[in-house]
Amino acid sequence: MSQIEPLPHIAATKPYVPGGKLHGAKGPVAMLASNENPFGPSPKAVAAAQAAAGTVHVYPDPDYGPLRAAIAAAKGIADVSRVVTSAGSDEIIHLLTQCYAGPGDEVLFTEHAFSMYRVSAGAHGATSVTVPETDMTAGVNAILGAVSPRTKLLFLANPNNPTGTMLSVDDLKALQDALPPHVLFVVDGAYSEYLGPTYEAELRDLVDRRDNTVMMRTFSKIYGLAAMRLGWAYMPAGIAAIYQRIRGPFNVSSIAAAAGIACVGDEDFLKMSRDHNTHWRAVMTDALSAMGLPTPPSHANFIVTEFGSAEWAAAANQHLKDNDILVRAISGYGLPTKLRISVGSAEDNQRFLDAMKAFTASR
Ligand SMILES: Cc1ncc(COP(=O)(O)O)c(C=O)c1O
Repeated sequence: MSQIEPLPHIAATKPYVPGGKLHGAKGPVAMLASNENPFGPSPKAVAAAQAAAGTVHVYPDPDYGPLRAAIAAAKGIADVSRVVTSAGSDEIIHLLTQCYAGPGDEVLFTEHAFSMYRVSAGAHGATSVTVPETDMTAGVNAILGAVSPRTKLLFLANPNNPTGTMLSVDDLKALQDALPPHVLFVVDGAYSEYLGPTYEAELRDLVDRRDNTVMMRTFSKIYGLAAMRLGWAYMPAGIAAIYQRIRGPFNVSSIAAAAGIACVGDEDFLKMSRDHNTHWRAVMTDALSAMGLPTPPSHANFIVTEFGSAEWAAAANQHLKDNDILVRAISGYGLPTKLRISVGSAEDNQRFLDAMKAFTASR
């Protein structure tokens, strides 16, 4: 029998559960499970990726200079050396955890936080500590109350996935000011573009206020490049230098880098995607609430609907699957009575609402 055993903390780590695919569908599937952009990628990204495909026999530029410069220019960042890139922002979560937290250390996040924070803490032997939430939000005092001398990292997605809730920028500043100096504050802005450029700039400026704050971002959501696996972060200089030390030299493919350069400043595409999301998020929120399914305001590209019981949420999920509509069960996030529904194309959103109308009418 094999005596090859993983490290105990690896063996104890539960893997991330992705939104998945709907197998055995009868027709086209409405994909409302993974917060992807229903418009697909920006055409500029597609053209650049196709052009880059002919040179994949050559390793990428390990410095990713043009990509980092394009990100810095689009986001109003003066110091390119503080912009780092990654294979999806999941990699940033992993690398920061690898750099700053290990056995005996604590990684802090809120009760219904994005689950990769827990996976990554476990994978590096650190202890996950969760802050209890009320109405799917943890306030500044609750978060500070959970900080201990062992806390090394605080991950906070703002807006958060899967709840769609967020803290105000003033709250983020208060948190940043009050954290003890041994805690690195990682603000995950995966959905920040859905609030618009003003909020994006506020997150950027947060990093410049103190040397304890990192902002991480992804091209997987509004940029429509989920399968490219491209992320970036803006960091204090010292943290960026540590990150660059252990980052794989070619962690971003040249195709992904070319796509990112082409679309990071595509403001027309961003605005179109954001406007569509704002419109349909309100339509879906109102329609579900009118069906007797409470759906609080969300700040991201998805909504979270309350069904009153785990059984009813599961029945709704099954009804949707039977109609080739895939949404996200979030019982794994401690929210078994709710479903998370991404804002999709107009057609898919309408299909979803029609299916929900039929479901609620049949109860
Ligand atoms: C809050 C948050 N952070 C990070 C990610 C990771 O995104 P990616 O690795 O595709 O960049 C996601 C993806 O769902 C997310 O919701």
